[in-house]
Amino acid sequence: MKTLLHLVASPRGEASSTLKISQSVIARFKEQNPDGRVDTLDLFVEDIPAVTVKVTEGKYQLLSGKELNDKTRPAWEPVIKQIKRFQDANIVLISSPMWNFGMPYVLKHYFDVIMQPSYLFRYTATGPEGLAKGKKVIVATSRGGDYSEGPAKAMDNLEPSLRTMLGFIGITDPTFINAQPMIAAGPDVAAQKLTQAVSIANKLVF
Ligand SMILES: Cc1cc2nc3c(=O)[nH]c(=O)nc-3n(C[C@H](O)[C@H](O)[C@H](O)COP(=O)(O)O)c2cc1C
Repeated sequence: MKTLLHLVASPRGEASSTLKISQSVIARFKEQNPDGRVDTLDLFVEDIPAVTVKVTEGKYQLLSGKELNDKTRPAWEPVIKQIKRFQDANIVLISSPMWNFGMPYVLKHYFDVIMQPSYLFRYTATGPEGLAKGKKVIVATSRGGDYSEGPAKAMDNLEPSLRTMLGFIGITDPTFINAQPMIAAGPDVAAQKLTQAVSIANKLVF
């Protein structure tokens, strides 16, 4: 049985353009995996642990090859819980609007929590190694403007930063489905671009 973890980083629910793409991704997943499980993690609703002094202390213990100790372990319990939830997924669907050219803060917070040494990456004699290999990752994004080409492309700090973080943990081939522009060129263009994005989602193979 496959598990799809859906990371929701738009607070707009029914009004969200990004989530319209994701609904099609999920419908497609269920169609092909009738016994599949969808684990929804709404980053605007659920409590993601803060990256506190104790959490960072534990991170540096792991980075220096030590184990967590009695001082850091309690703070790490909710961190490990989130990492395990990510590790348990065969497929990860990230639903992220563009906010100020990058990802909403809740999604960055989530990655700051789960990207931990000895869990999702490690350093070896030949350099860093991602430990989350083998997951299929789909990223649905929508943006008010269009950053697909020309000078605006350099302002897209959403797709490149997600690619960098995912690549670091071993996910080197994420599929991005970007709907843009959702505002700048008016509602007709937005509807057309959203339909295009949804039709890409409807062709995904799981
Ligand atoms: C806080 C905030 C910041 C935004 N920043 C940008 C931006 O930098 N560039 C852009 O093109 N659109 C920006 N937008 C517009 C959204 O990216 C766009 O409306 C998107 O489709 C919203 O996705 P959603 O409907 O799934 O929430 C911003 C919207 C909000 C609420």
